[in-house]
Amino acid sequence: MNKERKLVIAGNWKMNKTVAEASDLVEGLLLDLKDVKEIDMVVCPPFTALAQVSQQILSTSLRLGAQNMSQHASGAYTGEISAQMLKEFSVRYVILGHSERRQFFHETDELVAIKAQAVHAASLRPIVCVGETLDERESGTTEKVIETQVRGSLAGLDAAKMADTIIAYEPVWAIGTGKTASTGQAQEVHAFIRRLLASIYDENTARLVRIQYGGSVKPNNARELMSQPDIDGALVGGASLEARSFAQIIRSCLN
Ligand code: PGA
Repeated sequence: MNKERKLVIAGNWKMNKTVAEASDLVEGLLLDLKDVKEIDMVVCPPFTALAQVSQQILSTSLRLGAQNMSQHASGAYTGEISAQMLKEFSVRYVILGHSERRQFFHETDELVAIKAQAVHAASLRPIVCVGETLDERESGTTEKVIETQVRGSLAGLDAAKMADTIIAYEPVWAIGTGKTASTGQAQEVHAFIRRLLASIYDENTARLVRIQYGGSVKPNNARELMSQPDIDGALVGGASLEARSFAQIIRSCLN
């Protein structure tokens, strides 16, 4: 596939996979994807499986991501995980502000922006999630909601850090529901986000930022989505839990 930006396809395992299950999944992925270089491939296991997965993917082209990170460096923050702890396992990417974190753990744009700063300060790369609910889409406020989230969640990042940030557009109504945004709907929002970045930063920064689509990405719809000019990757939930389907998604986007 001829893309302006290198595709980045990440698997968000959410709260799934024991260490043994994670190990099996990664073994399967490596069998299928060992030779792939044209796409940045990332797996985001739960914290408890990072050590295992990190060992398995040493000197392979798979990269490691975390699903969340504390904005604090250390201290009395029961239950939290710091950047330094993630770096011990060669984590490179951190998902921030996933709609489930926003919905169930009350994360706000302000908090996501602070976390994004902390992720960059540790030389890690954030994947910042934004997306509208069904109500918001149906009431015609999608662009307004996305603009508020993009401005709020990325507040304070300079142009260089922005260029090295990944945005994941994930319509909430498409997550885990089997309903995908049509390629047209997705491309429209991605292009809107890129225009917005050009107005906040500049054309060149906007051109460098990779914008992933997420929400029921499967082997049978990935290629069409990725062929859109402003869709530069995918954040995959359910279909990343099996080696076969995640590998098929990646393979379907080669060439
Ligand atoms: P899904 O999840 O692929 O299961 O819809 C995507 C996500 O939440 O990142």
